[in-house]
Amino acid sequence: MSSQPIKKQMKTIVLVGLMGAGKSSVGRILATKLDLPFIDSDDEVEKAAGCSIEDIFEIYGEPAFRDVEERVIDRLLQGSPIILSSGGGAFMNSRTRARIAEAAISVWLRADLAILERRTKRRAAGRPLLKGTDPSEKLKQLINERYPVYEQADIIIESVDETPEKTADKIIEKLTDDTA
Ligand code: S3P
Repeated sequence: MSSQPIKKQMKTIVLVGLMGAGKSSVGRILATKLDLPFIDSDDEVEKAAGCSIEDIFEIYGEPAFRDVEERVIDRLLQGSPIILSSGGGAFMNSRTRARIAEAAISVWLRADLAILERRTKRRAAGRPLLKGTDPSEKLKQLINERYPVYEQADIIIESVDETPEKTADKIIEKLTDDTA
C-alpha cells in the first residue's frame, strides 16, 4: 500500500494497547512501510536504567519504572517522527497522555482477552505484571481498568487474528483518511 499521501505531514505515531496487542510487531512493519525509525519504549527504559524491566520492577519497584517510562517517552516525543511502541501502562499516565496528544498521533490496538492470553503466553520476558499471578485474571483486570482510558486514543484499530502486515495497512488507511 502506498504511504506517500501521509508521509509529508507525518507526526510520531504512538502505538497504545495491552501486552500482546501486537504493538511491537505491527509497529516494526508500520515503520518500514512509512520509512520511519521504530522505537520500543520498553527498550529505551532498559537502556536508560541500565537493567532489564524485570530488574527495575524487582529492585526499584513499579513507581520507579513509571517515572523512567514517562521521562523516556517525553524525550522521544521531542525528536523527529518515529513509530513508538509504548509499554502497556504508559498511556495510563495523564501527563504522558497529554504529551502524546500534543506531539503525536495515538493508535490503540484493541484486542480481546482470548487474543491477549494467547499472545502473552508466547513472550513472558519484560512483563513482570503477569508474573506470579493468574495471567487471565490479570489481563481481565487490566482490560477493565485501561480500556476506558485507551479509548481516548486518536485512532482505534481492532487487533484481530490477522497478520501484523494487514493491521499495519489498516492503520495507514486510517491515517490517510484522517489527513486527507
Ligand atoms: C506493562 C507492559 C510492558 C512493560 C511493563 C509494564 C504494563 O510492555 O512496559 O512490563 O503496565 O502493561 P508491553 O505492553 O510492551 O508488553
